Amino acid sequence: MKKKFLNLGIQPLANSFLSSNSKKSLAKEFFYNLEVSFNTSSYLVSISKPVNPKLQYTDKYAHRASESITMRNAFKKIANRLNEKYLPKIVMEIGSNDGVFIRNFPKKKILAVEPCKNLANITKNKYKTFPNFWNKKLANKIFSKSKKADIIFSANTISHIPNLKETFDAIEFSLSENGVLVIEDPSLYSVIKNNSYDQFYDEHVYVFSAISVANIVKKSNLRLFDAEEITTHGGSMRFYICKNSAKYKNTKKIKLIIKKEKKANLHKFSTYLEFSKRVKKSKSNLIKIFKRLKNKNKNIISYGATYKSSTIFNYCKIGKKLINYITDTTLNKQGKFTPGQHIPIISPAVGMNDKVDYAFLGAWNFKKEILKKEKEFIRRGGKFITHVPSPRIISK
Ligand code: TMP
Repeated sequence: MKKKFLNLGIQPLANSFLSSNSKKSLAKEFFYNLEVSFNTSSYLVSISKPVNPKLQYTDKYAHRASESITMRNAFKKIANRLNEKYLPKIVMEIGSNDGVFIRNFPKKKILAVEPCKNLANITKNKYKTFPNFWNKKLANKIFSKSKKADIIFSANTISHIPNLKETFDAIEFSLSENGVLVIEDPSLYSVIKNNSYDQFYDEHVYVFSAISVANIVKKSNLRLFDAEEITTHGGSMRFYICKNSAKYKNTKKIKLIIKKEKKANLHKFSTYLEFSKRVKKSKSNLIKIFKRLKNKNKNIISYGATYKSSTIFNYCKIGKKLINYITDTTLNKQGKFTPGQHIPIISPAVGMNDKVDYAFLGAWNFKKEILKKEKEFIRRGGKFITHVPSPRIISK
């Protein structure tokens, strides 16, 4: 049974940046109610009513995974590791974005699946790219009895797909006998620990725990045999999944991770009710910080027009009165307005100027990279604001 525990209010699609803030374009904005539930039998945490993926993954999709050096390095490292460890002949990526993972493999090994046409266009000349949603039909088109994938990789994608049963059934069909599915997604353990409620937005239909993934894949004759905690996206989990009959034994690590999650009570509804209370407190404390600084006439901006920050700004109703603008390195976000609050987005070259007193870390998951990059801002007395694990001003 699904039980609701968190209501983050009326929200726009987090990636739907507006080209204009004219009345006409604002009138077309799509909103939905962002409510989060816990399934008491599978222990899955999910958005109560997911948005139709056809509205989300269009040819206007803004996110480019290769924008960050942290992500480029992380994908290179895992690509090399998988190549060395499993010696795959065929590697398929589901949700290949701008090719940041597949670029680490020779062309002949790669099959890429990417439903956003603008992204599929980036990789299609070099790599065999299917501009489609991942489902049984596509799996049947790509694979056959004699053609299977040795590695299926999918980062920050499986948690976006409402129909997990079909997704994993199609993966089971596509994997070779000892093939391995490797998925990376934000970790529920980290969300609860960091109070990072901004991991909930329309695209994150699910936030996975190892406990819930083990339950879900079982229904498609798959087995979660290993996992590792990784730092990307503010705390993620990399899950290793194989066919039930594959040669891999369940590792000590997966047993320990599940034990740790049980100790944190991720299988109990009461944990989420407590989390929900902390989220409300985080909201009121963050608003207080912004208002206090604004009353002192401080110039506040936000750093990184992230999808996560869309949840925060729309839930806390932090808009143009409190934030002058947002800086973002992504060219196709610059010159646009954020969904819901319509805060202008500009380049950091223009926006990170001497007048800025405070910058909210919308991209808090890249805190290390950003603090390193913005030494000059910090040196001259500029400060960052964050909301994780609780709202505060970072002085260094
Ligand atoms: P993500 O958390 O969804 O990957 O998005 C991060 C966003 O932050 C992306 O739009 C790029 C932007 N960004 C900057 O503007 N400056 C930076 O230094 C970093 C690391 C990211």
